[in-house]
Amino acid sequence: MKFFIDTADVAEIRDLASTGLVDGVTTNPSLIAKSGRPMAEVIAEICSVVPGPVSAEVTATDHATMLREGRYLASIAGNVAVKVPLTVDGLKTCKVLADAGTPVNVTLCFSPAQALLAAKAGAAYISPFVGRLDDIGAVGMDLIADIVEIYAAYDYKTAVLVASVRGPLHVVEAAKLGADVVTLPPSVLRQMYKHPLTDKGLEAFLADWAKTGQSILGPETDAA
Ligand code: G3P
Repeated sequence: MKFFIDTADVAEIRDLASTGLVDGVTTNPSLIAKSGRPMAEVIAEICSVVPGPVSAEVTATDHATMLREGRYLASIAGNVAVKVPLTVDGLKTCKVLADAGTPVNVTLCFSPAQALLAAKAGAAYISPFVGRLDDIGAVGMDLIADIVEIYAAYDYKTAVLVASVRGPLHVVEAAKLGADVVTLPPSVLRQMYKHPLTDKGLEAFLADWAKTGQSILGPETDAA
């Protein structure tokens, strides 16, 4: 399973990229606004930090302007994936960009029918928003199960990119369903490391080790 980071905060991305676990980044207009920086500048910087795909979203709503925006965003760096919303114009734009070899991430997906359309339009990624479905009393993860089943039935190559992730449980459920990618808010990736028994166990190991008076590294190991 691939891990993307869902943020436009470059300091966070640099910090998390140092773990070696970050395969890509997703942004959206709200995250760019939160960064307070010019979009082209922040996307170029993220692309230089993370070699994997970096999603940059168009903000026009008509096909012709979306296409111009998408082509511009793709020109910023070789690892940009153009993000378009799941609308008629968005999927028309997806088809043209995908046919020309540009990877497209289709976002704001809330139904299996929408996901089917995105796959037919040649999307490299479909982004179903599980958290926002949970927020309205639906079961976001049911959408992931449906999309995984449909794509497998027709061998669609569109990767299922689970978005609007709210906690580690979403990640585990997505992994059990065989989703290709999760895009994680930085806080969720950090939460995934944590377990109280890990902290407690480590504390006990270190206390016992301190009693031995030993140290693994010393003058005789310095040359190693
Ligand atoms: O980037 C798209 C998605 O992950 C947004 O999530 O938390 O705003 O619902 P959220």
